[in-house]
Amino acid sequence: MKTYSPETPFDDYSPPVARVLSCIQPTGAVHLGNYLGALQQWVNGQHQNDVFHGIVDLHAFTVTESPGVLGQNTLELAAMLFAVGLDPNVATVFVQSHVVEHTTLSWMMECTVSFGELSRMTQFKDKSQKREAEFVSAGLFTYPALQAADILLYDADEVPVGDDQKQHIEITRDIAMRFNHRFGETFVLPKAVTPALGARVMDLQEPTNKMSKSTTNESGCIYLLDDPASIMKKFKRAVTDSDNEVSYDRDAKPGIANLLDILSAATGQKPQELASSYSQYGALKVDAGEAVCAMMSPIQQRYTELMNDRAELQRLLRVGAEKARVVASATVDRAKNAVGFLPE
Ligand code: AMP
Ligand code: TRP
Repeated sequence: MKTYSPETPFDDYSPPVARVLSCIQPTGAVHLGNYLGALQQWVNGQHQNDVFHGIVDLHAFTVTESPGVLGQNTLELAAMLFAVGLDPNVATVFVQSHVVEHTTLSWMMECTVSFGELSRMTQFKDKSQKREAEFVSAGLFTYPALQAADILLYDADEVPVGDDQKQHIEITRDIAMRFNHRFGETFVLPKAVTPALGARVMDLQEPTNKMSKSTTNESGCIYLLDDPASIMKKFKRAVTDSDNEVSYDRDAKPGIANLLDILSAATGQKPQELASSYSQYGALKVDAGEAVCAMMSPIQQRYTELMNDRAELQRLLRVGAEKARVVASATVDRAKNAVGFLPE
């Protein structure tokens, strides 16, 4: 990368790239909303910034009580991340539990955050209330300390997150500032950034709700691993309206607008322009379904190849973990030295 100096002609100067960290929990199947709303942006972003993508299995462990599930979910999610186009030679894709520094730094974070601060986290309040009759682990309470470790380990400048995670980035900054104040400059202060805007995909059965893995009606949700016949069936059954006129109006005609948005995301054409080329709902449904099948087909093929070659998939994850460890271990050393733990 070129850096600026008075001798460098200005045209040759490219600003330093940002270190960007995004993490995703290995819970549940990936759907079209995740893909068009987030994963596609990750794939595009890998060429613009220095990106780290963690599959955060230790976070998922806060609510895991049965054996064998976590590793399988992690493997499937990793295959999906590579299948959609994250390039292991460009992006650093790693599994959180493979980089032991996460747990080391997490403990240091736990000792730098207060009980009161953790008690104010709205996600903990929500999650623990929802689990009223179930086991609420201490890990669910200290979850933000582990998240702070994820972020600070990689000297992340930017963390793209939705509104529900902003509070966790704020607490990470507070922890980093407190640590830097107590023990000397150690951590880069991260900032929450709004993710590049992807398409917002709505449920095909309830087009005023976001497509979501917690949907009550499976036929409203397109999973990336659905076969073409079920994708077509779900599109043909999509809820629309009764006035039989194709126009792009998200408020008045949410079902049709959603189909146009999906077709637009799959073809690159504008939804308003697409609207003018249809006179019937049926044809729009079929074209949207076929466009999604065509978009998914190479992804599904790569996914299957990777899942059939587990050794290769594990190798790609080892490459990612090694790259991650180089940065993470340097940060842990810096933090331990700053505190003044007795060296080995
Ligand atoms: P979640 O499945 O809720 O953990 O979300 C993972 C990522 O996918 C987040 O970045 C969400 O913003 C994105 N996402 C989830 N559902 C949708 C949707 N229906 N439309 C667009 N983006 C979505
Ligand atoms: N808590 C995040 C979520 O529920 C997942 C996460 C864990 C994360 N570590 C992170 C997100 C670090 C961004 C950065 O979605």
